[in-house]
Amino acid sequence: MARHLITSALPYINGIKHLGNMVGSMLPADVYSRYLRQRGHDVLYICATDEHGTPAELAAKERGLPVAEFCAQAHDAQKAVYDGFELAFDHFGRSSSQENVEITQHFARKLNENGFIEERAIRQVYSPADGRFLPDRYVEGTCPHCGYDKARGDQCENCTRVLDPTDLLNPRSAISGSTELEVRETKHLFLLQSKLQHEVEAWVAAHEDQWPQLSSSIARKWLTEGLHDRAITRDLDWGVPVPADTWPELAAEGKVFYVWFDAPIEYLGSTKEWADQDPENRDWKSWWWEADDTVRYTEFMAKDNVPFHTVMFPATQLGVREPWKKVDVVKAFNWLTYYGGKFSTSQKRGVFTDQALEILPADYWRYFLIANAPESDDSSFTWEHFTATVNKDLADTLGNFVNRVLSFSKKRFGEEVPAGAEAGEAEVKLGEQIAGLLAEYETQMEALQFRKAAAALRALWSAGNSYLEEKAPWLEIKTDKDGAALTLRTAMNLIHLYAIVSEPFIPASSRAMRQAFELADDTAAWVSADEARALAFLPVGTPFTVPPVLFAKLTDDDLAAYKERFGGE
Ligand code: MF3
Ligand code: ZN
Repeated sequence: MARHLITSALPYINGIKHLGNMVGSMLPADVYSRYLRQRGHDVLYICATDEHGTPAELAAKERGLPVAEFCAQAHDAQKAVYDGFELAFDHFGRSSSQENVEITQHFARKLNENGFIEERAIRQVYSPADGRFLPDRYVEGTCPHCGYDKARGDQCENCTRVLDPTDLLNPRSAISGSTELEVRETKHLFLLQSKLQHEVEAWVAAHEDQWPQLSSSIARKWLTEGLHDRAITRDLDWGVPVPADTWPELAAEGKVFYVWFDAPIEYLGSTKEWADQDPENRDWKSWWWEADDTVRYTEFMAKDNVPFHTVMFPATQLGVREPWKKVDVVKAFNWLTYYGGKFSTSQKRGVFTDQALEILPADYWRYFLIANAPESDDSSFTWEHFTATVNKDLADTLGNFVNRVLSFSKKRFGEEVPAGAEAGEAEVKLGEQIAGLLAEYETQMEALQFRKAAAALRALWSAGNSYLEEKAPWLEIKTDKDGAALTLRTAMNLIHLYAIVSEPFIPASSRAMRQAFELADDTAAWVSADEARALAFLPVGTPFTVPPVLFAKLTDDDLAAYKERFGGE
């Protein structure tokens, strides 16, 4: 029994996320959290919307809403989708919370006291027409590297190079379109990351052997390129204000912290939001403050977020010189592609999470996505692959097994788990096989190897099918009624086992399987290999009902309709 702190990268506030975002962060974090909870660990799964920065301001402007109102609505809209996916966060917070403001300002003061923040005058794009400085995406223009004419001030979407607004050719304001832009001098806070390079290197070296290779190789690459000092404030209306007690002049000018400074701090902020909802019983600092010995902290994210979590945020935490919990394991994912191309929010290419739920219940997506998670490499979403997987694994292997066993038994033996013969050779063999597969599932889950854990789960489902085919109770019953009853009783015990071990992947279907049996104890606590081997969870005589079909089979017409709506190839 351990304490597990789990976070998934905070989804950016502007817009509903696509399946590629979900599979690389929140969904595996949820699967892992559910598994650990079932195994009796003390788990805290924290996430939040990442609400500051220019994209939030620009999206609000586009909708004609004050940014605070836009963010409140967009937060609720995202939360509703995640509820639909049954993401069981302990708390889904907001980086614009008062809690985050306080902790972010505290971090900045401490970094300053410790000599890691410096005020520097820099030259920035200013728009007289808009009466303001234009940071990041507020400037658009032509990329100096590739000539793309809609490059944004922070990055060129075409060649992916990181830019500074002053790099752009023919710059224009993204607000007013004005091209009469000037460069003016203004003061900003810089985080002196270069001073922390050696400490971060030592910290990475001490921890990277616990990380998957994808995470450590990205961290190494960034460290080799060297940590540069970077501006951590912006001229924006929306963000965590620079604290006036420490920087009165900058505060008076309305400077706020850069979104990437306050976003990871929201992992702490969101934990405090959670605790503030029930202060008598919840202690946020027990998860974050001097917690290294008792808490194991695992972060989930896509690979583009890895530098911030393995290098930049640890640098901030180290520079604060206070004993805040740092990450133990950084689980990173490659990209899920849509027919080999990019899922793109701006180009509306691919499948968005709200649309996915309009089409099919969450379990179909949860299973498919985790079984095909882009772990060792990018993986591609296609409707052909999706429908084939749903039909084979969920409808045929699992769903059909459940319905066949329960309906046949009901017909021949009534609505209670039948007695029948004692377990024989086939049951002993099955029990051994199940125990082995369960151990494999546990090993892979603990190693955060989600595809392999899903494969072990699928193998558990298949083992039931093989057993049933081998024993063929529909024939057995003609000559050996007790033998057929034993087969069905054993198969029902498998269904009960599936209800437990499938829960992290397909929680709703697992509930349906468990609720098929009228059991006094309705918890889905984990089972030991020995319990699994014995296949004797269900007392003889336990009443059951036949649940509605667990998974609909998807037809060629369904496939054609999905491709028509979303585009294939
Ligand atoms: N919002 C960022 C993104 O979508 C991720 C932020 S993660 C955190 O890429 F570190 F800021 F929390
Ligand atoms: Zn470019």
